[in-house]
Amino acid sequence: MSRTYVVTGAASGIGKATRELLLERGHTVIGVDIRDADVTVDLSTAEGRAALVEKVTALSGGRIDAVIANAGLATPSAITVAVNYFGTVATLEGLRPLLVSSPAPRAVATASMASLFPPDDALLTALLAGDEKAALARGAELEAGGPQLGSLIYGTTKRALALWIRRHAATADWAGASIPLNGVAPGVVETPMTADLIATPEQREQITTMVPMPLNGIFEPRSVAYLLAWLTSEENAHLCGQIVFIDGGSDVIIRGDSTW
Ligand SMILES: NC(=O)c1ccc[n+]([C@@H]2O[C@H](COP(=O)([O-])OP(=O)(O)OC[C@H]3O[C@@H](n4cnc5c(N)ncnc54)[C@H](O)[C@@H]3O)[C@@H](O)[C@H]2O)c1
Repeated sequence: MSRTYVVTGAASGIGKATRELLLERGHTVIGVDIRDADVTVDLSTAEGRAALVEKVTALSGGRIDAVIANAGLATPSAITVAVNYFGTVATLEGLRPLLVSSPAPRAVATASMASLFPPDDALLTALLAGDEKAALARGAELEAGGPQLGSLIYGTTKRALALWIRRHAATADWAGASIPLNGVAPGVVETPMTADLIATPEQREQITTMVPMPLNGIFEPRSVAYLLAWLTSEENAHLCGQIVFIDGGSDVIIRGDSTW
């Protein structure tokens, strides 16, 4: 059955691959991005997030079947805090009312295996408190502190996002409204986001030392698209608050037995 999907970050990489896959399968896709999309909005701002809800409501007639909250940035800067955490949560919360009249509503967000890296505790605390002002201030401090401190921003936003999903999936708004809410945690995927990090064989080796991926190594965005499509399909009715690592093995290597 044809369904209506909202995909954020649809202009590039994983979002683009997901949009293409869903269109191939005969679904309707409302692509959202800061550029080249059906809905062009800046998810780093409150105005952009409000415009997202308005425009998707207008385009969909007020009913959608699934949200794929995937837009993100990996720059070591405060704007990454705004997009990866607050933009993603606002996408999920803002579009949730449009899901409730679907016979099979679904939601998923793109976290990252980087959620396993040690976080910046002050930033994590501000994110989990939903305090955007404090989180942006801490993001700016980390950004100003140089590359090593700045590099904590990305993983911390993804950890907070994974925790947000875990904390909300079983609540009345989501499970109680029959909406499976889950996340994916990709390893290193070949997209414009990673292009400069994996351009040479030496760089690829360096990154796979940090992110070990013994199962088939660095991969194409379409592989993540298949998983996002399944998680938001009618077939997935019972996964609740799971962060599915699609990472070639980095999670099992980094966390080992510690999750049990
Ligand atoms: N590529 C990887 O290795 C990898 C690994 C783990 C997780 N991820 C996550 O996957 C998601 C997609 O990343 P990708 O690799 O496809 O990157 P990408 O850069 O190819 O695509 C990201 C998209 O998000 C959009 N975006 C950025 N800021 C925005 C804003 N303010 N408002 C609206 N849209 C905005 C961009 O314009 C872009 O089209 C991100 O959340 C990223 O963190 C990627």
